[in-house]
Amino acid sequence: MNKAPTARLDRLLSNLGYGSRREVQDLIKAGYVLLDGDAVIDGDERIALTPDLAARMTVEGEPLDPLPGLVLMMNKPIGVTCSHKEQGPLVYSLLPERWRARNPALSTVGRLDKDTSGLLLLTDDGALLHRIISPKANVSKRYDVTLDRPLRGDESQVFGAGTLMLDDEDKPLLPAQFEAASEKRGFLTITEGRYHQVRRMFAAIGNHVTALHRDRIGALALPDELAPGGYRVLGSAELARVFQSA
Ligand code: URA
Repeated sequence: MNKAPTARLDRLLSNLGYGSRREVQDLIKAGYVLLDGDAVIDGDERIALTPDLAARMTVEGEPLDPLPGLVLMMNKPIGVTCSHKEQGPLVYSLLPERWRARNPALSTVGRLDKDTSGLLLLTDDGALLHRIISPKANVSKRYDVTLDRPLRGDESQVFGAGTLMLDDEDKPLLPAQFEAASEKRGFLTITEGRYHQVRRMFAAIGNHVTALHRDRIGALALPDELAPGGYRVLGSAELARVFQSA
């Protein structure tokens, strides 16, 4: 069996956003950090990063935050931006303040526009993030699209052909699947992630997207019970669904 990696307690807590090394040292010395019910008062102590650590360690009476390697699913609401830098409300402001001070930082897996809602993944695992967004992984994303004008009827053919060119691009889009749901609504599944791709695809055929919501990544569906602005930790079986086809 692989031995769990270890980390110095003060560094672990500081990297989880509990404060500077000095601040967490004070917290530890004051007996606020318990492992299996007993205070750990030496910040230099190396702690085994076993998956059950969050259940065994408490900080000021609360369970330890999730260890690095965290993956979250969020129901992104309209009006927040997938950026660390831009002005205005950011998706990160929906997370607990301490989680925003983690190192490595949580980042969104790709982006949804400010005006797009729905399924968004966030992780602090850079390798995983790249594995999901890599073109090689061919991970599909499904969008529920509401349009300004009635569908023409040939959308699934035009988007499925693999020949559609977007303005200012020199490579056609890969084939995408479209399924009409009503006169002005349908589900579009794409495997690429070009800038404003869905909105530009409909603009290219003379329509205009009035509402856009992502409801699936691979075979992972946004759960009905996750309200806009809500998030939760993604389990490993759910994560595996991202790489499966729907
Ligand atoms: N395509 C878009 O146009 N916007 C999104 O947010 C995602 C895909």
